[in-house]
Amino acid sequence: MKFFIDTANLDQIREAQDLGVLDGVTTNPSLMAKEGITGHDNIMKHYVDICNIVDGDVSAEVIATDYDGMVREGEALADLHEQIVVKLPMIKDGIKACKYFSDKGVKTNVTLVFSAGQALLAAKAGATYVSPFIGRLDDISTDGLNLVSEIRHIYDNYGFETQILAASVRHTMHIIDCAKLGADVMTGPLSAIEGLLKHPLTDIGLAKFLEDFKKGN
Ligand code: G3P
Repeated sequence: MKFFIDTANLDQIREAQDLGVLDGVTTNPSLMAKEGITGHDNIMKHYVDICNIVDGDVSAEVIATDYDGMVREGEALADLHEQIVVKLPMIKDGIKACKYFSDKGVKTNVTLVFSAGQALLAAKAGATYVSPFIGRLDDISTDGLNLVSEIRHIYDNYGFETQILAASVRHTMHIIDCAKLGADVMTGPLSAIEGLLKHPLTDIGLAKFLEDFKKGN
């Protein structure tokens, strides 16, 4: 299972990279705005800065919602760096643009996916990644993890190579459950990734080991 970090915060990206378990980064316009990254040139430079920190795929989202605009923006994003994955919204023109980019061998991430039918379309269009938003489904009393399970089932039935990128992951249990269900990738905040480290018995056991070592030395 690949671990992506879902942020545009360079310090957090560096911290996850330093941990040695990071496989990529996902961003979106809200995450860029949260870091105060505005204006075309600053945004483009920020994507390159992210690519220079991590080794893996970096999803960069288009703003346009029409086919021509998405293709134009996506091409500019893909030209920025070989690690860039063009992130496209799950709308009609987004699917057309996904097909365009997959035919050209450019990696894509179809985002804002909330149903199995949408995920099926994204796979048919050759998406590299499909991003079901599990936390946002949970927010409206709908089982986000069930969607991951449905997509896994459908993709396995037909051998679709599109990778399930569980997004809107909020906490450690989301990560563990996504791993159990066979999501190919999860993208979440640093807090959820680092949360996996924690167990009180580890801390108690380590303290005891060190205490016993001191007794004998
Ligand atoms: O990866 C998608 C993510 O950025 C959305 O997360 O927590 O805003 O639902 P959230």
